[in-house]
Formats: sequence, structure tokens, C-alpha cells
Amino acid sequence: MAASLDGFIARKDGSVDWLETSDEFAEGDTMDPEFVEAFLKTIDCYVMGSRTYETALGFDSKGLGWPYGDKPVFVLTSRELPRTRDSVELYSGDLAQLVNGHLRPRFQSIWFVGGGFVSGECLRLGLADEVRYSILPILIGDGIPFFEKLDRDVALHLAEVKAYRSGMVELRYEVRGHRGEDFGRPFTSSDHRSA
Ligand SMILES: NC(=O)c1ccc[n+]([C@@H]2O[C@H](COP(=O)([O-])OP(=O)(O)OC[C@H]3O[C@@H](n4cnc5c(N)ncnc54)[C@H](OP(=O)(O)O)[C@@H]3O)[C@@H](O)[C@H]2O)c1
Repeated sequence: MAASLDGFIARKDGSVDWLETSDEFAEGDTMDPEFVEAFLKTIDCYVMGSRTYETALGFDSKGLGWPYGDKPVFVLTSRELPRTRDSVELYSGDLAQLVNGHLRPRFQSIWFVGGGFVSGECLRLGLADEVRYSILPILIGDGIPFFEKLDRDVALHLAEVKAYRSGMVELRYEVRGHRGEDFGRPFTSSDHRSA
């Protein structure tokens, strides 16, 4: 997800108006639409919480589009929400059972769209292989945190960093030591110096 520098993905009322920032970082890369399109093709299905789905439905109804194409979208909810597309499936229950039991056997690349509740749950249950965290050049003071209610430490390996002309910094981390593995190397003092 994209977050403010102070770690929020939306304001408390769910608004994301602040995502449109106006910074310029001269040495940054420009976002290549062809690369983005090619990357989106690698995603096999999406999983999102109901509040994120409601935001997406709101954007769609305002004519701003549906960013998930025809790819299957699994919406976590205990409510009877509208399904505006055949590609949308509502699911209620155990997230680990959904991901390990139903999705992993069918899909290679499963993208958790958010929001904070679902990303916290995903990390807590050890379901994530990677975290993609984009920092926008803004502080908003309060809001919905990127990871809600994480109750333990989650060790990460920084795999990729990209800075863009827009002032956004994109971080890609691999989750270490989940599902019984520990594929990270030990932290050394030289890491600290070069950070
Ligand atoms: N900045 C970004 O990149 C970004 C990305 C994604 C989202 N967002 C924003 O984040 C906000 C939403 O985040 P959020 O943390 O409030 O909510 P969320 O994670 O989108 O949705 C949480 C809701 O999903 C339902 N749910 C979750 N797990 C479930 C399960 N296992 N079974 C049944 N239902 C389940 C529950 O609602 P019900 O059961 O009541 O339906 C729960 O309250 C929105 O404003 C959205 O725009 C921002």
C-alpha cells in the first residue's frame, strides 16, 4: 500500500485525498506505464477487506475506474455487500483457510490490496511472503495505520528500494522466518553504517 511518512494509509474517516502529493525529487525515476502494466499482469488475484472494497466501489461509481481488470477479487466481509462484477467473490471466515486452502493451490501471485486491518491480519497469520510499502512525501498526523494490531515483531529483509520523481519511495521487503523458515542473514554493524 501507499502510506504517509507517519505510517497511515487513510485518514480516520477513510479518505485518501492526500495521496495526490506535489513534490518533485529531481534524481528520481519516472513511473513507466508499460512497466506497471507488465507488473499488473503478473498478479493472479486480489484479496481485500470490505472497507477497501467500498472505497474501490466509490471510485468506480465516480467513473475513476476499476483497477483490478477481470482478475478474481476476494472481498473479506461478514456483510451482504453489492457485487458489481462477476470477478468479485465475497468471503467470510478464516483468512488462513482462504489463502492456504483455496487460493494458493489455484493462484501463484496473490496480492493483498489492504487495508490496515487485513494487512495486519495477513502478517499476524504468517501469510505474507513480501511487503510492498510506498512512502509518500506527506505527514497526516492521524489515520488508519498500515498494519493494524500487530501483536509481535515481524523480521523483514529489505529487497528493493526505488525513489521516484514524485517524491514517493517504494520499498519491497521479504518476510523473514515465516512458515518455519529463516532465509535472512544476520544483522551486522556494517548494515547500520551504510543505512
Ligand atoms: N493507501 C493505500 O494504498 C490504501 C490501500 C488499500 C486501502 N486503503 C484504505 O484503507 C481503508 C480501509 O482500511 P481498514 O483497515 O479500515 O479496513 P479493511 O482492511 O479494508 O477492511 C476491514 C474489514 O473487512 C472485513 N473483514 C476482514 N477480515 C475478515 C474476515 N476474515 N471475514 C469476514 N470479514 C472480514 C471486516 O468488515 P465487515 O465484516 O464488517 O464487512 C473488517 O472490518 C480505506 O479507506 C481504503 O481506502 C488505502
